[in-house]
Amino acid sequence: MGPMPEPAKSFYMTTPIYYVNDAPHIGHAYTTVAADVVTRWHRQRQEDVWFLTGTDEHGQKVLRTAEANGVTPQEWADRLVDSAWQPVLETLDVRNDDFIRTTQERHTRRVQAFLQDLYDKGEIYAGSYEGPYCVGCEEYKLPGDLVDGTGEYEGQKLCPIHGRPVEMLSEQNYFFRMSAYAERLLALYEDQPDFVQPASARNEVIGFVKQGLQDLSISRSTFDWGIPIPWDPAHVLYVWFDALLNYATAVGLDSDDPAERERFARTWPADVHLVGKDILRFHAVIWPAMLMAAGLPLPRRVFAHGWLLVGGEKMSKSKLTGIAPADIIDTFGSDAFRYYFMRTIAFGGDGSFSWEDMTARYNGELANGFGNLASRTAAMIGKYFGGVLPAPGPLTEQETALADVAARAVADAEAAIDRLAIHDAVAAAWSLVDATNVYITETQPWKLAKEEGETDAEGRGVDGGRLATSLVTAAEALRALAVLLHPVTPKAATALWASLGAEPVLGPLAAQPVQSAAAFGVLPAGTTVTKGEALFPRLVD
Ligand code: ME8
Ligand code: MG
Repeated sequence: MGPMPEPAKSFYMTTPIYYVNDAPHIGHAYTTVAADVVTRWHRQRQEDVWFLTGTDEHGQKVLRTAEANGVTPQEWADRLVDSAWQPVLETLDVRNDDFIRTTQERHTRRVQAFLQDLYDKGEIYAGSYEGPYCVGCEEYKLPGDLVDGTGEYEGQKLCPIHGRPVEMLSEQNYFFRMSAYAERLLALYEDQPDFVQPASARNEVIGFVKQGLQDLSISRSTFDWGIPIPWDPAHVLYVWFDALLNYATAVGLDSDDPAERERFARTWPADVHLVGKDILRFHAVIWPAMLMAAGLPLPRRVFAHGWLLVGGEKMSKSKLTGIAPADIIDTFGSDAFRYYFMRTIAFGGDGSFSWEDMTARYNGELANGFGNLASRTAAMIGKYFGGVLPAPGPLTEQETALADVAARAVADAEAAIDRLAIHDAVAAAWSLVDATNVYITETQPWKLAKEEGETDAEGRGVDGGRLATSLVTAAEALRALAVLLHPVTPKAATALWASLGAEPVLGPLAAQPVQSAAAFGVLPAGTTVTKGEALFPRLVD
């Protein structure tokens, strides 16, 4: 066999793999939806994309929950994945390419091979450790990280993230020589300035590594729910070392299978690991150090977004402040859920959810702003042109101004997606929603319809008039919006594409390159436009 041609690189993006100790809440949904919007966007650019999500099933946190429920950890994990973690993807309208579970053999086998390789290279040694451990974080803490307990926890030291007491652990275990990588990590942050984003996250990581790194304890022998250490099966692998490797094992790290090898060549290194800021250090410090030790290429970017807060605190399973995605989606639908969180929270910062704000934005921006624009345009094409798109007349400044807004919206949204400013991308798209509403208000097609020469003897609009021009222009703006918003509100965009009768003349929505979405004059005269169901029906209280 001759040398294989280098396959084109896919855009590869990941979410964290979530612990299966409980069902997903909107904090998890937030990360997954954000990754879905960005990957759908890249697909709309007609790029080859790979989007991975999944579940983290080993470790003490999952073990203890299973024990408390009287089942084995594997039974517990199976139950949660089948009843909650897989179905939520459907609820959120997420289109992932793969779902990795850390109990799958494809993962455990490749993790063991990775470990053995590091051991053989002298990167892992036997030692002992004693220190405060937070099971919520699955992490040894440094004494300086802890906060003093109050009230029920008076006199105890608490994890600052979980607000729960830490446990003193002392173990004989294996260590990864992470301390050896501090200089190389600092050089990485310097040479590849967007490796950690946003800037606040980068600064935090640099500050942390500059203090020097300790070697990392990577095995446990006090419980057995984990991947056995290949050369010493009385120990299981530390859950984070296991979990981080999912990003590489899922795409075929070290596989002998030709299709898997090809997948790895096409996807690795990952383009974006999207995470919450709670797990930034694992991804920006431990993970690249592991890859350096193994001699594997490093991911291009780790982006840490902020927290969804409830009552000013991080929403969490362990504090019982979680809201299930279906609680919101049952009322508002998945498109509105996606739109709300992507639009209202500056991506990278913290944000909160409120029913009042959600309701106001649904009514104002989705039902009245976007939905009504689509339905009244289709209704007027129905009324004046029998649902058949006319031929426009000469364009005036009003039309070229709207086309300019569309061009700017696409350019701004594209640039925003590249810096993962998802909120800016949605706002850019919305500038076209708003400008098109203004355009209709100003051109007043219902008034044009009464003017001399705009309609024939039967009152039907004629080709080439101002009435025709205004409705064709509004339809073109909607066509551009269907493409631009397909990644964000896929159901509404698909319904809009159908309403515009675009598929028979332009092909499937998914095949429309976002880059050229703004060019007007694409829908041909004669296209059948129908007023479908409301994109965002009014809420019944
Ligand atoms: O940490 N706001 O899993 P996890 C925003 N298994 N995002 C939130 C959030 C909130 N209030 N709560 C959770 C783990 N998230 C490990 C990850 S990866 C190799 C292993 C999101 O179930 C956010 O993405 O605790 C956060 O980083 C993640 O869920 C933590 O999920
Ligand atoms: Mg957590």
